[in-house]
Parts: sequence; C-alpha cells; structure tokens
Amino acid sequence: MSELILAIESSCDETAAAVVQDGRKVLSNIISSQIPIHQRYGGVVPEIASRNHVLQLPGVIDRALAEANCTFLDLAAIAVTYGPGLVGALLTGVSAAKALAAARHLPLIGVNHIHGHIAANYIAHEQLAPPFVCLVASGGHSHIVYVKNYTEFEILGRTRDDAAGEAFDKIARVLGLGYPGGPKLEKLAQEGNPDAISFPRVNFGTTSYDFSFSGVKTAVINYVHKEEQAGRDICKADLAASFQQAVVEALVSHTFAAAEEKGCKVVTLAGGVSANGALRQAFSLAADVSNITVYYPPLILCTDNAAMIGCAGYYMYKQGNFADNRLNAVPNLKL
Ligand code: KG4
Ligand code: ZN
Repeated sequence: MSELILAIESSCDETAAAVVQDGRKVLSNIISSQIPIHQRYGGVVPEIASRNHVLQLPGVIDRALAEANCTFLDLAAIAVTYGPGLVGALLTGVSAAKALAAARHLPLIGVNHIHGHIAANYIAHEQLAPPFVCLVASGGHSHIVYVKNYTEFEILGRTRDDAAGEAFDKIARVLGLGYPGGPKLEKLAQEGNPDAISFPRVNFGTTSYDFSFSGVKTAVINYVHKEEQAGRDICKADLAASFQQAVVEALVSHTFAAAEEKGCKVVTLAGGVSANGALRQAFSLAADVSNITVYYPPLILCTDNAAMIGCAGYYMYKQGNFADNRLNAVPNLKL
C-alpha cells in the first residue's frame, strides 16, 4: 500500500505544503512565495514573514491536498520543518502541523530543513541512493555533507562566516539589484566577463574544506568604493561575473576535494544557490574531469519547498522516528 505524507515548510519566506507518495513521488507541491511582500524592504522581514505564513498556510495546505486528490483520511503522517530558520516563521508551520496531527490522529515528523534540501535530489533522480557527497548552498548554509544513508550525515566542510547565498544577496544589494539577490546577480553576470577582476579565494589548508565568503564580499565592496572615489565608471556586469566566479570556484573545488578524500563517485548539489547556472555548469565540468556522477535538482526543488520535506520525512517515518506534541521550532538546528 502506498504511503502519503503531507509536508509543511515555513522556515523563511515561502509558505509551502506538499503531498508526497512513498517518499519520492510528488503528488502536489504548492509554494506561496512572499517575495513581492519583502521586496520593498530589500530583504526578508521576519515578523512580516510569520504573519503571512499564518494567513497563507490554511489555503496552501488545502490546495496541496486537493491537487493530490486526497484527504486527511488518506495520509500516513504529517512532516514539518522545525529548524533551522526564522523562529517565528518556523513556529507557524510547527503549530499547524501539531494541531492537524493531533486532530487527525496522525504521526508527526519533525524534519531538519537542510536534510530536506539534500532529499530534493531523491525526488528528481530515482536511481540516486546514499552514500554520496552533497553541497548544500543556500541563504543560510554552505555545507559539504557526506550523506551516509537516508538519515545520517557527516559534515565535511562548512562556511566560517557568510553562507554562499547570503554573499550573493549582500553583493546584489551593493550593486542596487534588490531582493532576491541571487537570481538577479546571476542574470547580470551573464553579460559580464568573469575574468575581468580578480577577487580572493580563501583556503584553510589542505585538510579543511571549510569556506569563507566574507573576504570576497569585502573585496567587492572595497573595489566599488575605490572606483567610485577615483571617479571611474564600474562595469557592474563584470563585477557580478567576477564575484560569481570566485564563489563558484570555491564551492566546486572544496566539494570535489572532499568527495575525492571520501572516495565518493557521486556528488549532488542542493539549496537555493544550486539554481545558479554557472555553478551547475562548473559542477558538471569538474565531474567530467574527475569521473564523478553529479546530480542537481530541478529549479523548483532548489529553493524552499515542502516536497523535499515530505521526502526527508518519509525516511524518518520508515524508521518510526516521530515527534510528539512537544515539538518546538529550533532556529539554529544542526544537521
Ligand atoms: O534554499 P533557499 O531557498 O532558502 C534558504 O534555505 O536559505 O535559498 C535561498 C538563497 C538566497 O540567498 C538566494 O539569493 C539564493 O538562494 N539563490 C541564488 C539563485 N537562486 C537563489 N543564488 C545564486 N544564483 C541563483 N540563481
Ligand atoms: Zn532552504
């Protein structure tokens, strides 16, 4: 018999619900983005995000069930993101999931958002199975993860300061591109020369795969100030392309070095930044050179969504790893 999981995701500025069958088949994937609401502030305003989740969640959940052509009676469990993320935003999803699970006598599953991003690739690639190395690059995280099995992970490298997506967002703001910064910066970079300006790449020695993106961010800001003071025009497209290349190179080189050390022949890419075309291309090139198979999710599963939470939740469901009504939001939850 097939098992359906209703999943809820509200960790940042997307209100999302999905119904996933047997972990990997997505029957519905509803995402209500708050981008137009936060755009005028130049970034996500946590309190506004929480209030909008409260408004949107009931309708989004109803649509997820309707589109999957099922009711609560058909469900095996309810999965919800309980961290990491914005505490108020997480609480809205956790409260909704707890109330629905209690009212419908369904098991509740608390899912780590990063685990969800990793699971996005299972949905898109049915042959994919652990172990593999995954780069999770999003607005809040840049982790190189060794995925031992469906529920166990080892962190091989992480950022010591800004996350990759955060660096994209900050530089986009410096260039006056607005929010959300990543996709806008990528678009501008397509018109620029990635070799025009040399920005620093940081390595912490041969034994560490950690990242640092605050150095390249400061270098870009200093470059802008210097050029402005000298009265020279800045080619924003060249700047965007050169910055993007510095970030992409670090992400690719550290991930493939970590995969090599682990003797891993499969590498996956996940999280919002995995929507970036230059990063996907660089991953494919590096994979060809090192004879590694690389997977990335389709664009809709790169950024925040509930289908990935349903997939991750399914593997916890199979282990009987359930939460109870004391489940709480954990904003700084570790993988
Ligand atoms: O995974 P996600 O939706 O939310 C978090 O869990 O943080 O990732 C959002 C991040 C943002 O920083 C956004 O600027 C970045 O992913 N992003 C991109 C692109 N699309 C989204 N960064 C670079 N290029 C893109 N095309
Ligand atoms: Zn995310």
